[in-house]
Amino acid sequence: MKNTQSTDVIFELSKPGRRCHRVPASDVPAKPLEALIPKKHLAAQPPALPEVGEIDLIRHYNNLSTRNMSIDTNFYPLGSCTMKYNPKRHERLAALPGFAELHPLTHDDHSQGMLELLYEMQQFLAEISGLPAVSLQPAAGAQGELTALYVAAAYFRDKGETHRKKVLVPDSAHGTNPASAALAGFDTVTIKSGANGLVDLNDLKAKLGDDTAVFMITNPNTLGLFETQIKTITDLLHSKGALVYLDGANMNAILGITRPGDFGADMQHYNVHKTFTGPHGGGGPGSGPIAVRDFLAPYLPAPVIVKDGAKYKLNFDTPKTVGRVRSFFGNVGILFRGYCYIRTLGPDGLKQVSEQAVLNANYLRKRIGEGFEIPHAGPCMHEFVASGRSLLRERKVRAIDLCKRLLDFGFHAPTVYFPLVVPEALMMEPTETESKETLDAFADTLLRIKDEDPDVLRAAPHTHIVSRPDEVKAAKEPKLRWVPEKPATAATK
Ligand SMILES: Cc1ncc(COP(=O)(O)O)c(C=O)c1O
Repeated sequence: MKNTQSTDVIFELSKPGRRCHRVPASDVPAKPLEALIPKKHLAAQPPALPEVGEIDLIRHYNNLSTRNMSIDTNFYPLGSCTMKYNPKRHERLAALPGFAELHPLTHDDHSQGMLELLYEMQQFLAEISGLPAVSLQPAAGAQGELTALYVAAAYFRDKGETHRKKVLVPDSAHGTNPASAALAGFDTVTIKSGANGLVDLNDLKAKLGDDTAVFMITNPNTLGLFETQIKTITDLLHSKGALVYLDGANMNAILGITRPGDFGADMQHYNVHKTFTGPHGGGGPGSGPIAVRDFLAPYLPAPVIVKDGAKYKLNFDTPKTVGRVRSFFGNVGILFRGYCYIRTLGPDGLKQVSEQAVLNANYLRKRIGEGFEIPHAGPCMHEFVASGRSLLRERKVRAIDLCKRLLDFGFHAPTVYFPLVVPEALMMEPTETESKETLDAFADTLLRIKDEDPDVLRAAPHTHIVSRPDEVKAAKEPKLRWVPEKPATAATK
């Protein structure tokens, strides 16, 4: 635990004998523990827990919470992550005891309300995508990708087309796309982007073959550009008997405007936590439902929620299913928030979300373009990518230095160094929930700091206790739980 009053990190607040509460000794005669639990199952020592008074405990966690950036405290233009405002009303609704405390093993007869809600969520997601069969199980976008590729593999196995071993992925794709393809047992083939940032059709034609199983495409792509040749691409894939997977992470740009099913996708995932609001990015779990065409429905994870007369139930009777990919119904808390969001906004509201998100992104793109190179011609969709390569060339300042410096002014950094096809990439997604004043304040700051003393930039941030952690070490040696420095204290002896 840290003492957060000063910048000196004092992690250890534990003092033997300190407590938040002292429970009076029980006056009920108790049997010795050994009489209730076999000795071999009893721990030799009580667990070494921190011993802290209530006021220190409360300050510790409150102070830690103020050290984080969050969408509730800061503008968060993290490209591709859709860090939009999470309505607080949905938090209250999701906490209603009838939903929040429902045990996942409750019999269908006693969980009709929840099943109805999840059934309707399946219907909404089918309608928005134009793909009629939905599984709510996957717990994140990446797991949705993997699940859809399992579905594709099962479909081709069923058709006796096991020679289809290749999954094609554009070079601008999110890293989870090739990773999911590899995990599902496919070989990945990279498709080049053209100078305009869109899929290079000639490269696709050259690499597409009878051994192609799936083309994974993100539309709008990670450069924030709509793949205008999408119908030609999907027709091409289908002419070879392959499937098209739509990475739906960027659905925020096209809600109610176009549907993946209409432009030829056979499968897609949603990031409910992004598009339909769910606190995410270290703040909560995700939800990555998939939607597929009718002929792929038999392979979806089981169970799916079906309506039988007036009753909702779980259907396990799907012999061709790829199996379960997540316990129970997926991350119901996030699905619930997404459901509230869709119901609150309705079809017109969802369309307005995308129109506003695209408008905000284009406004910010123009403002940032006053001082930065934006390699691909606009207009953009819900996000855009600027490049800091001239700063690196002329002043030896890297994109990461700008991002770190932004933290000093209360702005979360844009996504940096992704997509890989843009050198010194700064990927910005303002979302629809930001005001013009916020966008201007951010643009003014970024345009100003790029001319600061390079040494100031390279040493940033200057106002944060954690500045430039070793991210590789943190990923390889994560310390996710408190371990006491001195294992035995007076109370644990
Ligand atoms: C384009 C794209 N695809 C897939 C994903 C994976 O989604 P998730 O983080 O929910 O696993 C992301 C996440 O950032 C993304 O931006």
